[in-house]
Amino acid sequence: MRVLFAASELTPIAKVGGLADVMAALPAALKRVGVEAAVVIPRYSFINVSRIKRLASSIAVPLARGVEHVSLYRGTHAKTGVPVFLVENDRYLSSGPGPYFNATAFVGGRKEIQRFTFFSKAVAELLARGAFGSVDVVHCNDWHTGPLASLLTRMNADKTPINADKDAPRKNPRKSALHPRKSATTKVVFTIHNLANQGRWNAAEIDRWMLVKGESSPFAKSGADYNFMAEGIRSADWITTVSESYSREILTPQYGEGLEKLLASRRKRLTGILNGIDYAFFDPAHDPLIPNRFSIKDIGWKPLNKLWLQHHFGFRVASDIPLFGLISRLTEQKGIDLIPPAIKEYVSPVKSRRGGTTWQAAAQFVFLGQGAPEHEQALVALAQKYPSTVFTKIGFDEPLAHAIYAGSDFFLMPSRFEPSGLGQMIAMRYGSVPIVRATGGLADTVFDNSTGFVFLKESAKDLASAIGRALVCYREAPLRFSDIRRQCMEQDFDFVNAAKQYRDLYYARPNAPPRNAGRG
Ligand code: GLC
Repeated sequence: MRVLFAASELTPIAKVGGLADVMAALPAALKRVGVEAAVVIPRYSFINVSRIKRLASSIAVPLARGVEHVSLYRGTHAKTGVPVFLVENDRYLSSGPGPYFNATAFVGGRKEIQRFTFFSKAVAELLARGAFGSVDVVHCNDWHTGPLASLLTRMNADKTPINADKDAPRKNPRKSALHPRKSATTKVVFTIHNLANQGRWNAAEIDRWMLVKGESSPFAKSGADYNFMAEGIRSADWITTVSESYSREILTPQYGEGLEKLLASRRKRLTGILNGIDYAFFDPAHDPLIPNRFSIKDIGWKPLNKLWLQHHFGFRVASDIPLFGLISRLTEQKGIDLIPPAIKEYVSPVKSRRGGTTWQAAAQFVFLGQGAPEHEQALVALAQKYPSTVFTKIGFDEPLAHAIYAGSDFFLMPSRFEPSGLGQMIAMRYGSVPIVRATGGLADTVFDNSTGFVFLKESAKDLASAIGRALVCYREAPLRFSDIRRQCMEQDFDFVNAAKQYRDLYYARPNAPPRNAGRG
């Protein structure tokens, strides 16, 4: 069984969000359960290919105004050993910024649409030529590869049925060159990581740019637009999303982002498989990126990581001040705007009741991430106003991220919606107790008063009251708090659990409904 993952991101070479982490961890976990997987992404301008093997060059991808050429590189993922293919093309893939043209990862404009339509076309062409070797399943991810799902489904439909005479003369030479393995159809799995980001664009414009004379569009219009997320949903053999709760939520208007009817029509083909995390990489007992390693058995070392953070950020260094962490894309989805009003009452220094002279805050907060300017500014402003209790860093910082997971007592994830969420799983593994809204993957992984503090409504007031409950537990019921923290650390979010479910899906008969399809 050989599976090719197609995606826009891959940790560590092209990471924006959780999608990148999943593209690294899932193929590696599949290897452990006997499935061979490889990944293909665009060769963005910042990816250095000077020491990577070029498999093919000058492969023609026909577009309306002439042919574009691509090269294909094959490397190996440094950490997991999984084969990584990179598709290079100067005009659409390998110049300009990457992966996206906009910091929030939400589809910005024409260039992004063209980039990923072209990527899909190029990958379909390369597959047809057998450039990736034999492939049984193409696993597409998010809107960027929705067109690929359509193109492959159309290619599959064009193929001669299995019992047809393989030696019969080929009528259309171009077609046969494109389909060297006549009888083998490739199964297409499409995973929704984030339904809010769909990739819609004017259909006529895309047709004018992409279609070769006489060719009809492989995409379906909705109004004047194509919708590339909808393409993936409409055409894949199986649709998955990254938690069971989210797979039910997206059938409702509140979470369906306008695609709930389409999703409902494919309900029997839709299943939720909870993401996991790479347990070897995120392991507080062996993590080289954290100041002091620890495990459930020697949890006593964990607080030293908090002291390190406090010292590092110029906070008051004291093990009894609770520290809250947040590591996130800073977008509307993540409920970042709820944070400033919710934490106001906890950040201002208050006079210690004991001393009378020392100033002590109720809590300390560390924020790390990047995204929409208004959210970045709001968190930076908080840090400027309360420098002794709030620290904000805009950007990516892997070592700091690990130090925050290791050193924080609590981890904030007040998401409006959350297909899976990885941060809460990593936090739990590092004994940082999550405070989350009950939605999607958060609702499937965090349980109130047992592995975290959960609130229901999208409001700063409800977030504040969950933080308040967490603080009361921390200060007034330390044994209870230790118990919650231990239960967090005992959870099993190893990606291998998900890998087994994907393996079942890859092997499923084309018409068999997946295990939990159509629930809810
Ligand atoms: C997206 C989702 C997040 C999920 C990740 C990986 O970033 O927002 O919930 O964990 O994809 O599937």
